[in-house]
Amino acid sequence: MMLGVNIDHVATLRQARRGSMPDPVAAAVICEKAGCDSIVAHLREDRRHINDDDVRRLRKTIKTRLNLEMSTSEDIIKAAIKIRPDQATLVPENRDEVTTEGGLDVLSNMDRISDAIDRLQSKDIKVSLFIDPESDQVEASKKAGAGIIEIHTGKYANAREAEDIEKELSAIAIAADIGLGAGLVVNAGHGLDYKNVKGITSIKGIEELNIGHSIIAYSVFAGIENAVKEMLALAR
Ligand code: PXP
Repeated sequence: MMLGVNIDHVATLRQARRGSMPDPVAAAVICEKAGCDSIVAHLREDRRHINDDDVRRLRKTIKTRLNLEMSTSEDIIKAAIKIRPDQATLVPENRDEVTTEGGLDVLSNMDRISDAIDRLQSKDIKVSLFIDPESDQVEASKKAGAGIIEIHTGKYANAREAEDIEKELSAIAIAADIGLGAGLVVNAGHGLDYKNVKGITSIKGIEELNIGHSIIAYSVFAGIENAVKEMLALAR
């Protein structure tokens, strides 16, 4: 499996003092040196961590792929079209959340989401939809015109009882199968860490994992290059 490293939390640390350090772009360069396959950054509507200048600099600097996580708001779509990431991952966004909660409801927002997909794809930006592991959301993603889905692994990551863990893993495996059958590229992410990632790597067909918080948290102790290398070894 490939690994995309989400560097939002490097910017979160910078924003704690509203200064210039640590620089998420410098972190991205080290993640690439460690061998990651893509860099993920979420340009939130409130710019609480990653800002417009970060994404502009990421676009100019990184050598792998830039995967921009984003909502479907008009301002953000316009910003993405200017930045031209390799991929846009559409996520639901809510001002009060501490992190992305739940997947996109593609079924209920088909027109808005398919319009955003058309606009981004017409600029050669690949589009991924971040969805819960539910068959109707996978099918709706295909219908909306996305080429990629990212299955939200948050419920799996939060499950504590063996039975719940199995139930969530099985939902992810079924959703991945349906996605692959529909010809979609299937990725996964959210809440994955050095322990729980093994359950996900046992599912065949998932192409890329997008992981942020656990890698950046571990890098405080191990350094970001080692933290990425250790996660890469598990993903591969
Ligand atoms: N994938 C998506 C679509 C996300 O929104 C996030 C969180 O920004 C992640 C992956 C990474 O989640 P985590 O930081 O929990 O690893």
